[in-house]
Amino acid sequence: MNAAQQKLQQGALSIQDVSKIYDPDGTAVEALSHCSLEIAAGEIYMVLGPSGCGKTTLLNAVAGFHPVSSGRILLDGEVLCNDKTPQAQQNSDRMVVFQNGALFPWKTLLDNVSYGPIVQKRLSPKEAREKAEALLREAGLIDISHKYPGEISSGMARRAEIVRALINEPKVLLLDEPYRAMDALTKAIMHENLLKMYELNPVTIFFITHDLEEAVFLGHKVAIMTTRPATVKEVIPIDLPYPRDHRVLSSEPFRLQVQRVKASVRSEAEKAFAAGEKELA
Ligand SMILES: Nc1ncnc2c1ncn2[C@@H]1O[C@H](COP(=O)(O)OP(=O)(O)OP(=O)(O)O)[C@@H](O)[C@H]1O
Ligand SMILES: [Mg+2]
Repeated sequence: MNAAQQKLQQGALSIQDVSKIYDPDGTAVEALSHCSLEIAAGEIYMVLGPSGCGKTTLLNAVAGFHPVSSGRILLDGEVLCNDKTPQAQQNSDRMVVFQNGALFPWKTLLDNVSYGPIVQKRLSPKEAREKAEALLREAGLIDISHKYPGEISSGMARRAEIVRALINEPKVLLLDEPYRAMDALTKAIMHENLLKMYELNPVTIFFITHDLEEAVFLGHKVAIMTTRPATVKEVIPIDLPYPRDHRVLSSEPFRLQVQRVKASVRSEAEKAFAAGEKELA
């Protein structure tokens, strides 16, 4: 961990014995079963599981989008979510970046990024603009900051969304397969960029994926989820030093870590396949 990250005092997530059953019309779907995870402040925590196992359900509970059926989730000791209702208000403590993106199409990237702090009156328009420009520069987006989302690639849009989340200085960044639809080369560039942004702006990252190389490349830890109902099968610490860049991908230690994760996840993928879930990408 770097020095800035060691100073992080906030952003510890505690997921305690969380289960979730959807029962919209009497046909109960058990999505999560007794999930427990302890995530330290400033950790990049990857949650890896087969398609349809319940990953987004867990992320939505951490985000406070819905209650769980039992158990609870705490952020720095404060209850975020339990069986009643999400307790803590949804706020900029936890910023979510989704797979399909959510930039305002009618605003430039700069206006998209500076919008939140201005509306919430946390920064003056001038301060928000300056901060947005600094972050966009770090993300390599300053030269296209005047463009609209419809004029840029999905990779650039996803970077801008992460910048838009970071400007709020969240304690936790929640990422739900943000790079799912991208090709391997674009993904690799996105990964390096995310790690760079993280080094400059340390934050707890709760990252959902079903891509095991992505999990190993980015994470301090990888939690392997079982097929639905998701429960935590194993948590694997990734013993690769940061900063990590694309050269890590061809290194022997990386290959060994991937093998270790693959062995754990494989039986779950086979079960998911047998159950008719969508195949792993
Ligand atoms: N609002 C809902 N009502 C009923 N069932 C739901 C609801 N949301 C999700 N489910 C079901 O819960 C299970 C877990 O869904 P979830 O979206 O959490 O999985 P996932 O691991 O994120 O899947 P994917 O890999 O496709 O993103 C699935 O069987 C899904 O159909
Ligand atoms: Mg999902």
